[in-house]
Amino acid sequence: MIRGRWNRCENFMRMLGIETTCDETSLALVDNGISVVAHRIASQEAIHRATGGVVPSVAMLHHVQALPKLLDLLEEEEDLSKVDCIAVAHTPGLIVSIQAGLSFAQGLSLSLGKPIIGVNHVEAHAYSALMSYSDIQKDALLQGKGPYPALGVVISGGHTLLMRISSPLEMEVIGSTLDDAVGEALDKGARLLGLPYPGGRHLEIMAQQGNPFAFPCLRGGRSKDNPLAFSFSGIKTHLWRLLKLHQDSPDRDERSFKEDLAASYQRAIFEDIIAKIDVAIRQVRPNSIWFGGGVTQNCTLRTLIAEKNNSSSKVTEEVPILWPSPDLCSDNAVMIAGLGCHAWNEQIRLRVEGRSCYQGKLSLLNREFLTKVVASPKYVKKQTYAWSSNSTGRPQGR
Ligand code: KG4
Ligand code: ZN
Repeated sequence: MIRGRWNRCENFMRMLGIETTCDETSLALVDNGISVVAHRIASQEAIHRATGGVVPSVAMLHHVQALPKLLDLLEEEEDLSKVDCIAVAHTPGLIVSIQAGLSFAQGLSLSLGKPIIGVNHVEAHAYSALMSYSDIQKDALLQGKGPYPALGVVISGGHTLLMRISSPLEMEVIGSTLDDAVGEALDKGARLLGLPYPGGRHLEIMAQQGNPFAFPCLRGGRSKDNPLAFSFSGIKTHLWRLLKLHQDSPDRDERSFKEDLAASYQRAIFEDIIAKIDVAIRQVRPNSIWFGGGVTQNCTLRTLIAEKNNSSSKVTEEVPILWPSPDLCSDNAVMIAGLGCHAWNEQIRLRVEGRSCYQGKLSLLNREFLTKVVASPKYVKKQTYAWSSNSTGRPQGR
């Protein structure tokens, strides 16, 4: 259920978000689930380039070192005692990296005397698109129609998901990958082509020089059971075979061969995603499409989708498309804090009604997380009292 206008929470809430699920450490302050007050991010990209991928223990160590530094920077900008709640990305991701964020959140919760809520990282990626537009822009895009049901398309290094979205807290997975995620497939392909980590961006640059139709044999995988399921392991092996054939008997300049291969590989992956979005549109009949995840930074993909939306075939039936802004494409704490506001509002509502904890559709850990880790009936009591007599929109009694 969405309360307030669009994605704006009806009660004032300042949320501190924490993101450490992979190799980006990020803290952010967000008001009402939409307004970004402060955002700090430390990327480990350069550190993991040497190993060609993320080493979990190294990632955890850097999260532990970066978190207090980012908090100091945030504190220089804003008074942290004004924070109402702490939202921490608690699933899915690298367990040791997540643990670094959870421990930090628990320490902060104790020192600030504020409650914690767990937020699903993938749900937050989908929500990030909604955070990237003002109400006016969204109104103009949707022309009077509500955004729901929305089709969520999360394409990142760890996930490839199609979701039916009924509200920021109601996301149902209707399609996912059987093996590699799309970002993972792009990164692995880039590595085979000799490009540095993380490869998606480098592959995009190389592909701009090549012919995307030079290797029509490259295609994404399909599943007989679910037309919305993705599979990218086959295309990766196919790329490896083509490279091997060329190495064994080179028939032309290696550079132009690799550029054509990069362009064809990327084209095949994006064509597959677009084809499955078409199927999902027929199934969900969405009023809007929300994209999220690191791969949405790819300009070629954005152009292809825009062309498809405007083409005479109108496969996407001109459904308004919401993209995350550049700073919200990859992992960030803004989206965690944003969705956390809705989750905490819902948590309060459920507690007031004497029902169980908020548990996002994908947030399998949340019930356990909230009851065991948050362990704070006193917070809920205090917040319930404050929120029930709220006239200014801002919680009182803090
Ligand atoms: O969302 P994200 O930052 O982290 C995960 O949650 O996984 O996504 C990272 C993924 C990587 O696979 C990276 O190669 C990919 O996003 N990526 C791109 C581009 N920039 C980053 N893929 C294609 N084109 C890009 N320009
Ligand atoms: Zn992510």
